[in-house]
Amino acid sequence: MKEVKIKINNLSVYFNYIQALNDVSIELYANRVTSIIGPSGCGKTSLLRTINRMNDLMHGFRLTGEVLIDGVNIYEPEIDVVNLRKLVGMIFQKSNLFPKSVYENLAFAPMLHGIKDKKEIEEIVERTAIQAGVWNEIKDRLNENALNFSAGQQQRICIARALTVEPDILLMDEPATALDPVSTARIEELIFELKRKYTIVVVTHNMQQAARISDYTAFFYLGHLVEYDKTTRIFTNPANKQTEDYVTGRFG
Ligand SMILES: Nc1ncnc2c1ncn2[C@@H]1O[C@H](COP(=O)(O)OP(=O)(O)OP(=O)(O)O)[C@@H](O)[C@H]1O
Ligand SMILES: [Mg+2]
Repeated sequence: MKEVKIKINNLSVYFNYIQALNDVSIELYANRVTSIIGPSGCGKTSLLRTINRMNDLMHGFRLTGEVLIDGVNIYEPEIDVVNLRKLVGMIFQKSNLFPKSVYENLAFAPMLHGIKDKKEIEEIVERTAIQAGVWNEIKDRLNENALNFSAGQQQRICIARALTVEPDILLMDEPATALDPVSTARIEELIFELKRKYTIVVVTHNMQQAARISDYTAFFYLGHLVEYDKTTRIFTNPANKQTEDYVTGRFG
């Protein structure tokens, strides 16, 4: 049984006079990986950032329609955005760790949210680093600057950091684009592991990656959701000609 975690109804997103998304309706499922694909500028990042209200900070941002998480419209005035961003973590193309120790990076959010007990924080650091498949590489180097670690390690530390606040949803914007094939494979395995506990939405430009890691795939073009279906269907027998051309590399 699949459970709808995120329900988007007739969403249009604007930045000043530019329309980034046009009347998008989609349901994203818990414990599934959904890939968002489509050519540059089609609105993938705008969509992700709408799900944790990161666009709110952008100049000229405006939206119509609804974004519901567990049935609650996250754009209602009573929504606490800090809590929302706890629930909806985000991972970017490039690691955005602070130039501080690995430990401080992982302890930061739990401390911010009021956990004071050192032992409890240490447990969170270890648990999330294990979950993110990076514990063995960092356990003897916790006091080292996080930026000393390799790009692949940093990306897994970013994932650990996102997990420290116990989110439900993980949004990943091209999380492996800047990585070598081995590090990419580790991130892909990790995504596969994490979906047991989380709802995962991944933007990727890599068609093979989308096919390997995701249960569902959504193809966007010029701000429109062109097609959304099981990943196997999108890659073997899409309903739409544009989707077929894109996934077979004929355009984009
Ligand atoms: N902060 C902003 N201000 C103005 N326009 C923006 C802003 N963010 C996005 N846009 C515009 O919205 C459209 C969609 O951009 P978006 O970043 O969502 O595309 P994308 O699909 O993620 O592309 P890429 O694959 O290159 O990352 C583009 O036309 C872009 O220029
Ligand atoms: Mg983008």
